[in-house]
Amino acid sequence: MLNTQLRGVLEGMPKAELHIHIEGSLEPELIFALAARNHVTLPYASVDDLRAAYAFSDLQSFLDIYYAGASVLLHEQDFYDMTAAYLQRAAADNVRHAEIFFDPQTHTARGVPIKDVIDGIYRACQDSPVSATLILSFLRHLSEEDAFATLEQALPYRDKYIGIGLDSSERGNPPEKFARVFARCKELGFRLVAHAGEEGPPAYIETALDVLKVERIDHGVRCLDDPALVQRLAREQMALTVCPLSNIKLCVFSEMAQHNLLQLLDAGVKVTINSDDPAYFGGYMNDNFIATFEALPLGLAHAQRLARNGFEAAFLPEAHKQQLLAEVDAYFASFAF
Ligand code: ADE
Ligand code: ZN
Repeated sequence: MLNTQLRGVLEGMPKAELHIHIEGSLEPELIFALAARNHVTLPYASVDDLRAAYAFSDLQSFLDIYYAGASVLLHEQDFYDMTAAYLQRAAADNVRHAEIFFDPQTHTARGVPIKDVIDGIYRACQDSPVSATLILSFLRHLSEEDAFATLEQALPYRDKYIGIGLDSSERGNPPEKFARVFARCKELGFRLVAHAGEEGPPAYIETALDVLKVERIDHGVRCLDDPALVQRLAREQMALTVCPLSNIKLCVFSEMAQHNLLQLLDAGVKVTINSDDPAYFGGYMNDNFIATFEALPLGLAHAQRLARNGFEAAFLPEAHKQQLLAEVDAYFASFAF
């Protein structure tokens, strides 16, 4: 059991969240409220019925339900309400800065204008006391041509998102499938990230780095299958946005005690802790930290390292980053090591 002092430290420490899919923050209650408001019929009879379906065997079994949940989002205000709810929850967990993924293709495919998607999410970020920026993610189960068309539609709003990501079904959809569109996004000056090595092999992490030229790897936990890659990640101080509760719910590891997060930290990899799809995986940021520290032999020094890693890996102006890192250090200075 986690001692009460360490639990309190984890709850109170300033955090950066770098891996959160905003559609994955839709709680069942909000899904049902939006379904009623928008006259959308769900294939679930009640909130409890929907929640009972959250028993996943792998990434795809989750994605099928996640895309069904997102079908209730139709209007700008829906995107605003979803994002405002997440940011309020993040603030309660002492998240000071969030970099939020959104999947425009999930919505444009249903006829929702991309302007309404971006405007609603962005407006909620502007209204929040939490610093928040946006990362537009391409769905990798769709074609590169579809990603190019989405980029074209999104470019009029380019001042509202800072980066480009790659998510959805990993196996069989390697990073190099998106080489040309990522090259174009780099030319346009966007920050680049990609999911790699969640379920897919370490080779996908390498091609995300070498072909897509990403600056962070989302998940990346399967790098440990390739010791040379782990050494490279450590040498290059390449951040991994690890999502512990997600990895358990999607059966990447059988239980938290089997998670490789401490091995990665010990190997010198810049690991961060994040929530991925908190409404589906049983927890927000503090839940992820507490579950990880309960299962693994981690202490105060690890907590400070993880909090610092989050801000160091953030796409923030240097002065803002240093201010947040100073906040972390001031917070930990009051605890005995
Ligand atoms: N989309 C939402 N959550 C995801 C995850 N964990 N992996 C890939 N795509 C996602
Ligand atoms: Zn993810």
